[in-house]
Amino acid sequence: MPEDVPLGGPQLFSYPMDPVTGVVRDGSRLNQVMLVRLDPMDLNNETRGRAADGIVAYSGVCSHGGCDVTEWLERTRMFLCPCHDSEFAPADAARVNIGPAPRRLAALPLKIVGGALVAAGGFIGRVGGAEP
Ligand code: FES
Repeated sequence: MPEDVPLGGPQLFSYPMDPVTGVVRDGSRLNQVMLVRLDPMDLNNETRGRAADGIVAYSGVCSHGGCDVTEWLERTRMFLCPCHDSEFAPADAARVNIGPAPRRLAALPLKIVGGALVAAGGFIGRVGGAEP
């Protein structure tokens, strides 16, 4: 539910549920998404267009080596991958702020339907770590 996502982070990890079948797609960690809520005024236009009530969603799998992006930098409001310290900016379409990650995290557009957060489409961008 949208109210479960705290304003200003940290991110919550979740698996999307198929809206038709009700099946939670937790069979692969590549389906894992991170949800974070930010002030909509802080989101760039691209990100705001995919957000629902300030909540944005990205793949939780680092684009560098595929680690889970588990850390949150509260002061700068960035995701931090603990493996090699790549930072990603959730308000700016998860661009790489610093670190060895070669590209942004894949984004998942959201919408709110009947009070529930649901995906408004598939991932935008490639999910998973860089090719060796
Ligand atoms: S796996 Fe995330 S920075 Fe290397």
